[in-house]
Amino acid sequence: MQDIRNDNDIETLVHAFYDRVQEHERLGYIFNDVAEVDWDKHLPNMVNFWSNVLFRTQRYEGRPYRQHVSLPIEKMDFERWYKLFVDTVDQHFEGEKAEYAKEMAGKIASSFSVRMEMDGEFENNQ
Ligand code: HEM
Repeated sequence: MQDIRNDNDIETLVHAFYDRVQEHERLGYIFNDVAEVDWDKHLPNMVNFWSNVLFRTQRYEGRPYRQHVSLPIEKMDFERWYKLFVDTVDQHFEGEKAEYAKEMAGKIASSFSVRMEMDGEFENNQ
């Protein structure tokens, strides 16, 4: 298996991940039914985001946390999201960048989770 080497690989990862997100009962509900995400915009945006994280291309300069605050996310949803991300990376890639992608996904998911907990933004108080 290959490592994540370029934007093509990032596209493969991002598309495979969000296909699985949409099939996931709980995450699919948040993305499609609550947020009504426009996938034609969200997918290229996420490719830019990961391209910046992995290859420092500076193609993403947004502030993603605030996009999540108003969503009905539970603490467990970040764990579901992270598990699905790790599974998807492991299914397609192997190597340093693949490990780094999983590490950063875990760190960012935890930081969102802590911020939402401190801001009292979780859907249930768990
Ligand atoms: C339970 C977990 C999560 C849910 C349900 C979720 C859901 C969403 C939704 C609905 C959007 C808005 C999409 C749109 O309307 O275009 C969004 C944007 C985004 N999310 Fe998440 N997300 C989760 C976790 C994460 C994590 C852990 C990361 C980072 C590793 C992340 C990164 C982003 C980024 C970069 C954007 C784009 C923000 C922008 O427009 O600049 N998300 N997310």
